[in-house]
Amino acid sequence: YGRDGHRIVCDLAYRHLTEDARSEVDRLIALDPQFDHFRDACSWADEVRGTTHRHTAPWHYVNQTREDPHIDPEDCAEDGCITQAIDLHAGIFADRARSDAERLEALKFLAHWMGDVHQPLHVSIEGDRGGNDIPVLWRGERFTNLHRVWDSEILLDHMSEEWPWAPEVQRWQYLADALDAEIPLGGVDVYARLDSIGWAQESHDIVRSREFAYYWARADQTIEPGEAYYQRSLRTSRDRLKQAGVRLAGLLNQLAGEREVAA
Ligand code: ADE
Ligand code: ZN
Ligand code: ZN
Repeated sequence: YGRDGHRIVCDLAYRHLTEDARSEVDRLIALDPQFDHFRDACSWADEVRGTTHRHTAPWHYVNQTREDPHIDPEDCAEDGCITQAIDLHAGIFADRARSDAERLEALKFLAHWMGDVHQPLHVSIEGDRGGNDIPVLWRGERFTNLHRVWDSEILLDHMSEEWPWAPEVQRWQYLADALDAEIPLGGVDVYARLDSIGWAQESHDIVRSREFAYYWARADQTIEPGEAYYQRSLRTSRDRLKQAGVRLAGLLNQLAGEREVAA
């Protein structure tokens, strides 16, 4: 996701943390001079992928061959992938024997991966860089690509249509409030098990579905998804943000709480 998507996922998650998990998250984030709130730390992984942490660039996604719709740990590239990164950083965050600095970094990565693994095009089919190579004329208005549509454009359009009077930099808060209001009371597993493969499979099933643009898209050929595509995608996007937020909360509750870590 772009900045707003990651911020929303972490803001939703924070609202559903247990007291134990919240105080641990707050304690670690307070050690980071760069960030005042957990939600602000959730795009950090994108900021460092091209600079201080180049080896993590392939960890933001996983790609399948066209013949293999089934996500397995073995589908990970040699340089790593998102499902492996989730497992790695969940393990480091949960390990109290590690230093605070290591656990803080793991928290920032884990929170970011939970957003990305729910963005369908971060679990896509090899050959077009997750849709980055599929040009899109979006809603007849602007040229972009399919990856950006799902990282940002759908959410930006939704926010500017729902809350046109709000300053652009604050719109994410309105969307986070609206999404949180749709999360049913008691409909959240307070503690969630680590299931990186299962979460990735859901994203992959979406990109393979008949309704998704992959069905008719070809690399380097501009597609023009219509209004029906926007409306459908918006529903899916909103659902994925809610799932990412709720699951991140459940996972952090599980890993930071006093319960046994069941990985
Ligand atoms: N680069 C290559 N594949 C990618 C993907 N699925 N998502 C984001 N960036 C990528
Ligand atoms: Zn992306
Ligand atoms: Zn990312």
